[in-house]
Amino acid sequence: MNRLIIFDTTLRDGEQAPGFSMTVEEKVTMAKQLEKLGVDVIEAGFAAASEGDFQAVNAIAETIKDSTVCSLARSLHSDIEKAGEALAPAERKRIHTFIATSPIHMQYKLKMTPEQVLERAVDAVKFARNFTDDVEFSAEDAFRSERDFLFKVFEAVIDAGAKTINVPDTVGYAMPEEFGQLIEDIINNVPNIDKAVISVHCHNDLGLAVANSLSAIKKGARQAHVTINGIGERAGNAALEEVVMSIKVRHDYFKDVYTEINTKEIYKTSRLLCRITGSFVQPNKAIVGDNAFAHEAGIHQHGVLAHRETYEIMRAEDVGVPASKIVLGKHSGRHAFKTRLEELGYRNLSEEEVDKLFRKFKALADKKKEVFDEDIEALIFDELFRTYE
Ligand code: KIV
Ligand code: ZN
Repeated sequence: MNRLIIFDTTLRDGEQAPGFSMTVEEKVTMAKQLEKLGVDVIEAGFAAASEGDFQAVNAIAETIKDSTVCSLARSLHSDIEKAGEALAPAERKRIHTFIATSPIHMQYKLKMTPEQVLERAVDAVKFARNFTDDVEFSAEDAFRSERDFLFKVFEAVIDAGAKTINVPDTVGYAMPEEFGQLIEDIINNVPNIDKAVISVHCHNDLGLAVANSLSAIKKGARQAHVTINGIGERAGNAALEEVVMSIKVRHDYFKDVYTEINTKEIYKTSRLLCRITGSFVQPNKAIVGDNAFAHEAGIHQHGVLAHRETYEIMRAEDVGVPASKIVLGKHSGRHAFKTRLEELGYRNLSEEEVDKLFRKFKALADKKKEVFDEDIEALIFDELFRTYE
């Protein structure tokens, strides 16, 4: 199976980050856009966490038809019951239950022995099956877990009926090669692994969430937990737009792996999340940042105008940005400037007139961060006192 399942956790892990909490209405609005984007699974929240989260999961379960709706639940009957109840109206529902398997989490957070954790994990999966056949199990802090124990837990939960086993790098500690190796080791050491989909959930504490996810996909993971704009606990999760566009742009590298994401909806989804949360991405953010398709250096502008692929590895339109943006500033060259004049309708200027305007433009650009179309029009009228076609 080479379809990569996109499990979007913007409304759960993403919303957990400070400053990103959303109202029920905002979460439903976001869920509708995620459905349009074509995500396979929407993790709508953590139903047992609060009344608001229960309401949000429930409202999304009622509204969304094309994506599977999921709720997180600890490995506790009370959490799983809440998740099952909130998800009841969903056409397709998933319960995502988890328990930590690393020594540090078991000892200090759970205060449980590995045997107790194993028993609890199996019990949770079996109990969740009372509400849906689609049960996902996460071994929290999997990357820092002792390998043989992790394999044993995965084997047991698959036997108990988990259809997806998720491998979180909860604290963003893994290096890409190590994380890919872990996926390969799971495939080679969990005897019933062919009965489940391997999923990954990477955090970005070292800025490696996307790299680690891609490394795991290369080794056989077929579900990725992602968030829009990479929001999530602490430094965030793997960004949906970066994972999806990496797979699309580098299909030569990922071979026949593909996603069903409607990439033309990416930019709109990113902007909607920014508007809802009031938190905007940095200009140089890959795929969705303001500068992602902007070219200011003269040499780059010349290249892009001559042949777009000189400096663009994907088309702005493919992610829903109307067109690549040539920003005119002090680094811009005459070629880009002349092209902008033509785009503005000034096609009949002599070379001398263009030269004169270009000198004025450079002088202005030294004083301003960006020269806008209105500035250029003002230059033309000041300099030439005439109207061009
Ligand atoms: O980071 C993590 O381990 C999680 C789990 C609940 C999947 O968010
Ligand atoms: Zn997480």
